[in-house]
Amino acid sequence: MSNKIQTLSGYIHEYAKSVQNPDLFWSRVADSFFWQKRWDKVVEWNFDDPDVKWFTNAKLNITENILERHLFIMGDKPAIIWEPNDPEEASRTITYSELHKMVCQFANTMKAQGIQKGDRVIIYMPMVPEAAVAMLACARIGAVHSVVFAGFSATSLADRINDCEAKMVLTADGNFRGTKKIPVKAVVDEALEKTTTIEKTIVLKRTGLDVTMQEGRDIWWHEAIEGVSTENKAEIMDSEDMLFILYTSGSTGQPKGVVHTCGGYMVYTNYTFQNVFQYSQGDVYWCSADIGWITGHSYIVYGPLLAGATTVMFEGVPTYPDPGRFWAICDKHKVNQFYTAPTAIRALQAYGTEPIGPYKLDTLKVIGSVGEPINEEAWHWYHDHVGKGKCPIVDTWWQTETGGMMISPIAGVTPTKPSYATLPLPGIQLAILDNDGKELTGNSVEGNLCIKYPWPAMIRTTYGDHKRCQQTYFSSFKGYYFTGDGVKRDEDGYYRILGRVDDVINVSGHRMGTAEVENAINEHPKVVESAVVGYPHDIKGQGIYAYVICDMEGRSEENLTSEIRQSVTKIIGPIAKPDKIQIVSGLPKTRSGKIMRRILRKIATKEVSNMGDTSTLLNPEIVEEIMEGAK
Ligand code: WT7
Repeated sequence: MSNKIQTLSGYIHEYAKSVQNPDLFWSRVADSFFWQKRWDKVVEWNFDDPDVKWFTNAKLNITENILERHLFIMGDKPAIIWEPNDPEEASRTITYSELHKMVCQFANTMKAQGIQKGDRVIIYMPMVPEAAVAMLACARIGAVHSVVFAGFSATSLADRINDCEAKMVLTADGNFRGTKKIPVKAVVDEALEKTTTIEKTIVLKRTGLDVTMQEGRDIWWHEAIEGVSTENKAEIMDSEDMLFILYTSGSTGQPKGVVHTCGGYMVYTNYTFQNVFQYSQGDVYWCSADIGWITGHSYIVYGPLLAGATTVMFEGVPTYPDPGRFWAICDKHKVNQFYTAPTAIRALQAYGTEPIGPYKLDTLKVIGSVGEPINEEAWHWYHDHVGKGKCPIVDTWWQTETGGMMISPIAGVTPTKPSYATLPLPGIQLAILDNDGKELTGNSVEGNLCIKYPWPAMIRTTYGDHKRCQQTYFSSFKGYYFTGDGVKRDEDGYYRILGRVDDVINVSGHRMGTAEVENAINEHPKVVESAVVGYPHDIKGQGIYAYVICDMEGRSEENLTSEIRQSVTKIIGPIAKPDKIQIVSGLPKTRSGKIMRRILRKIATKEVSNMGDTSTLLNPEIVEEIMEGAK
């Protein structure tokens, strides 16, 4: 692709051009795609409503840019290499022309089952190639996919189905995770008891777990596709038609549906993938995320496949059958670019370097990190032992809402700096604002990370509730998109993310709202009130600390805390299970009744030497008691 930046001066030049004339910059990038009709305007926007449109009136189908665009020159090239959970099971390689057939066939299948352009389809599946096929088949016919991470509970799944009024669920009988077989269809069945909009489910056979199939509603995948044509003409989509909804947590109790649209998302994920990883034709790229998160959408499926890359998809977990599994896969499939999360690096680091020993890792050229701040120790371990000191680390900062990477080194082109995401990518105009909304210019400043100009893959709305989008992202600082993160720009102009400044915690790279976890805890009949904060955790980055007021009558503390854990697992999923639960008799509150989280955070972090002024509290005596209990 002609838009690949290859030198530091090239980056500086491209960045300058992207700011001086964004229209020209992005139209030049967009010109390398296949459009059914070219755009009238590159970008139209305001951040007040907000109202953002990229490539106005352009027509396209993103799957034509993944499939048809690549078929003639690289039909036989592997598009997806799939590595199963069990290393003894054969891996699968799917070429671009095979992927084309699978996507077309499944697109026709969904249509035959009643799905039309604009309908919402939930994908609740394990990490198998069919999950990617499902996403692309939706995009092919203009259905809006919403992938729900298969570790979420039936309640979470039902909430998402109801919020977007989905018509279909694509799922599987079960999920292999290490030594376990996790029921998946059974969770769907439970969820569907709380929903009314689902007409059909299509169920992939993967584990052979027993499932109940409801007559007229549930169909096996292999039966549904039988005899269905592998030819399909792509639906022509407007650039601003919805491509997908992805639910993510915020500071309120209910996750919101982040909406991404076709044209801008396509251009931006391809552009950032090619540049940040410096992907060259023939390379094998692997991102270890799950397709249930934005990383999986943008950098397992869309970005790499748009670039005609070979993308590896792994079904299992990093420690099965042993903590060398990631490295075994890198060697086995000759991976050139590897992208993972700091929590995985820290978890593997805890086993020492011995599990890496048997592997060469000599095909690796670039290694990446995403999801949370990477601490210096993990950065160096990753650099020295995985990258063998020769692979640049791309520490990529971005969000579900940004659709693609925003701040990141460009591998081998721009400098890296341990624990820094470094510099904005071309087109990204950052601003650091103080709490009064004043922009802090110059270097050596710290504040709220905002963005002052639109980029093609940015969030357009929160599904069904545009006001919520406006309030969450565009109201804190007028005229700016607010990320919710704190940031520092150091003396050299490099950016370091300092973590969330709102009531959001980041556990193992998964975003969680404290209010959401509190709601789940409060569902327990014996719980009176609770407050949740994050605290530093060696492996997860942040752990969940819950302070809970309980009616203890006839219960032991041990029983109650274990029941609370179970109930959170049931309501949200195992990822939201509190690491620590402290039963308390009260919570520190202001006179207006607001919980003083600042104090609870300090206690959880064991920073109790300076509690600040507690005299304005309604119940200052409680602080001492909670501190005692925390010991
Ligand atoms: C939040 C977004 C981006 C896909 C995965 C998470 C944190 C993300 C980094 C990074 C420091 C990071 C931020 C951000 N975050 N990447 N490289 N360094 N922090 O997506 O669930 O939407 O979470 O993750 O706090 O706001 P997400």
